[in-house]
Formats: sequence, structure tokens, C-alpha cells
Amino acid sequence: MKKTIATFQQMKDEGARISMLTAYDYSTARLEDEAGIDGILVGDSLGMVMLGYDDTLPVTMDDMIHHTRAVSRGAKDALVVADLPYMSYHLSTMQAVENAGRLVKEGGAQAVKLEGGAAFVDEVRAITRASVPVMGHIGMTPQSVNAFGGFKVQGKSEAVARQIIDDARALEEAGAFSIVLECVPAKLAELVTKAVSIPTIGIGAGAGCDGQILVYQDMLGMYSNFTPKFVRTFADVGASMREGFASYIAAVQDGSFPAAEHTFAISDDVIEKLY
Ligand code: KIV
Ligand code: NA
Repeated sequence: MKKTIATFQQMKDEGARISMLTAYDYSTARLEDEAGIDGILVGDSLGMVMLGYDDTLPVTMDDMIHHTRAVSRGAKDALVVADLPYMSYHLSTMQAVENAGRLVKEGGAQAVKLEGGAAFVDEVRAITRASVPVMGHIGMTPQSVNAFGGFKVQGKSEAVARQIIDDARALEEAGAFSIVLECVPAKLAELVTKAVSIPTIGIGAGAGCDGQILVYQDMLGMYSNFTPKFVRTFADVGASMREGFASYIAAVQDGSFPAAEHTFAISDDVIEKLY
């Protein structure tokens, strides 16, 4: 059965932990969905893991819609959330609503995510008013990499920690259905999770959140540029792919692939006529 934002709230209320992963294409979404994932995020991390950019800033609305469409077709049960990319909601509430609407109408997403807390409550309210559920994202928000001076843990000082708690409260108050907490100290994430009644989804934020999310290439050993401290390799699919590719190349080179069973037959009569 299709999971909804109500499923997420019910899971928090019952103390059941929510599992989320990113996906950017049909086949991966399908595999995650069949495994029983609760939610799939079409993250703007696709700029890095799918497109090879150094950060998420170059990702466009067209990129997001293209990948969201594919994921929506593969996610039978999982809630599909799509990221609003950098500069797609910063100019005005009107721009934010229009682009959130595109992710739903053209991409088939059930909800959108944007980075920011108290500073973006007008956008969260406006998008929610258009009946598009919004997931907030606070702590280390990658679209602010230049403002932060790098991908760094946020909320170690009292001032920033307090701001993160205030941001979470402001997001809930503005109508967000859930909040991603990225790279914040585990004890702060626990405090935030208790401070709001909507589910928190952590990444690098410890086990005290209501749910967890990871970029799938990170947890499958498929993105070797950089492995953050908070990642566990659940299956080394990257190594399997490298092995698979290498044995294919070797089999092509030594002529053992394709074998007879991989070929199509033609009758000898027809072949004779061709001579
Ligand atoms: O883009 C993304 O993958 C994300 C998650 C890491 C939360 O925003
Ligand atoms: Na993102």
C-alpha cells in the first residue's frame, strides 16, 4: 500500500523507526521499494553522485523533474519526496510554489524538500497552502556549502545549536510534515526530535532521530570520491560492479563471450543461399 505523510506521522507516534534512501532512477527505486523502504528521496545529491559535480549547486529544476519522473514510476509503496534545487525557491514564495508544483505535477512526487529553517517559513507555508507537503532540512545543508566554508558538522556551539532547535520548531509551526537533520551532534538531534511532534529523519545525526536516510551510492560503496564518517557500507556493490565489468572485458577479449547459448540460430538452407 502506498505510504503517505500520514504513515510517517503514525510511525513517529508509535515509535516505529522510518527508513529512507535516495534514488534517482526507475530500477533503483524499484529495488528499494521491493525491499520495503518507507520513503525515497530524489535528492539534489544527484548532482554529485549521478552527474559528477563537486557540489549540489548546479542542479536544475529540469534535472530534478527528469529523475523524479523515473523514481515515481518505480516506487509502488514508498513515499516519494523530491528536492527543490538551489535557487528554485530562494527568489520568492511564488517561485517556491511554482517549482514545488512542477515536482508534483510533472515529476509525480508526493512531497518536496527544501533546505532551511526559520528563514524559509514563508515558503514552507505557501507550498503547504498549495497542498504540497514539505519536508524541511536543517543542520549541514549542502546548498549552503559556500556560506559554511565547506561540508562541516553544524550545531556544536550553543548559539548554532539553539538556532537549529528554533528552526525545527519554526518548520513544524509553518506546516512541514517532517525534518531532515544532517550532520549535527547526536545529542542535539535527540533534543530536536523531542522538541517537535513531526518525524525527524537523520543523516549523520545519530540513532535518536525518528528515521534515517542515506545516499544509496554511499551505503553500497559506489561513490569513492568521498566517504563521510556517518556512512556504513551495507553491501559493497561498487566492488561487485568493478569485478563484473572486469570479467566481462576479459571474456570479450579472450572470445569466451558470447558463447553458443547467447546466439540466435538460422537454418543451414538459408545460409547456403547466401553464399
Ligand atoms: O540530496 C540528498 O541526498 C539529501 C539527503 C542527504 C538528505 O538531501
Ligand atoms: Na538534498
